[in-house]
Amino acid sequence: MSFRTTRAVAAFAGAALLMGGLAACSSERTDDGGTDAGGEAAASDTLVGIAMPTKSLERWNKDGSNLESLLQDAGYETNLQYADNKVDQQITQLQNMINADADILVVASIDGTALGPVLADAKSKDITVIAYDRLINETPDVDYYATFDNYQVGQEQGKFIEETLGLADGEGPYNLEPFAGSPDDNNAKFFFSGAWDVLLPYVESGQLVVPSGKSPVDNEAWQSIGILGWGSDDAQAEMETRLNSFYAGGETVDVVLSPNDSLALGIAQALEAAGYTPGEDWPVLTGQDGDQANVNNMLADKQSMTVWKDTRTLAAQVAKMIDQIVAGETVEVNDEETYDNGVKTVPTYLLPPKVVTKDTVQADLVDSGFYDAADLDL
Ligand code: BGC
Repeated sequence: MSFRTTRAVAAFAGAALLMGGLAACSSERTDDGGTDAGGEAAASDTLVGIAMPTKSLERWNKDGSNLESLLQDAGYETNLQYADNKVDQQITQLQNMINADADILVVASIDGTALGPVLADAKSKDITVIAYDRLINETPDVDYYATFDNYQVGQEQGKFIEETLGLADGEGPYNLEPFAGSPDDNNAKFFFSGAWDVLLPYVESGQLVVPSGKSPVDNEAWQSIGILGWGSDDAQAEMETRLNSFYAGGETVDVVLSPNDSLALGIAQALEAAGYTPGEDWPVLTGQDGDQANVNNMLADKQSMTVWKDTRTLAAQVAKMIDQIVAGETVEVNDEETYDNGVKTVPTYLLPPKVVTKDTVQADLVDSGFYDAADLDL
């Protein structure tokens, strides 16, 4: 019996219980697929569709394969798809999963505002939807959200810059070039706000100077410096333009706020091409994810830090949510306030990200088994 059939039986049994005046026995999840009346659905009868944005970024490959193997090991059926960062492709993939009678959809969206109609169809078929890493906006049809604390990611980047440059001690002025993530990614505004809440006061005091003028006046203006699609090439081109246009007279850039590793990779290439030397005049450069190429750049003094997201813990948390949904248990969340998607506040499980620097690569990334030493230029 599939999870869908089991749910129908459970709903019927739940109704019978209610009619019998035993409502207090029912679980809290009957609304979206719980099987509280003794009809526990089996993992092997449950199809989980996993929609990832792209294979072109290392983290999503790890996310997809971690989650898929955890679920398969637990006996679930899975359907994992990557959408080449194309919104229409992701919508088609989701529609195919719905047509294949998926019971649960796990979605790392490309454009968080574009999935309303396809998720309405999912909801009409009683499918539970979990937003993975990125919130899905402007729809009531998302049930849960699991992610790393996105605001904290930005805070860690801002605080790293503050401490490394001694800004709290009054040091400066330093030349800063800030970047932000993809304007269609809901996470990007949290990353930027977290960092800008630390750095903007120093811009206003003149301790940080932005020669390019690409300095958002407030958190809301972050999209003006966003790199659509998070592409390394686009970040490289933007950094080259800034260096050529605003640093031609011998000025040097001291610090670059990069929201993630894919942008940091392109920015590092632009710096290298412009003649900056690692370990000498190379600017402070932030990142996020702990991608292999960026870890190697940290080891080579071409990137100062990364905010590591251990994708294994996110996959494990989502697998736990799925177990709880299928068992009809209350789904564990730890934030029911922050993630308003424009229609509802989505119950969320937030995981803590961690700052990794050159000095902690071995302890954090190798000793934990995230990378083999042989993968890195240690
Ligand atoms: C993720 C980041 C990632 C970025 C680009 C964001 O939504 O949270 O970890 O670097 O997308 O893929």
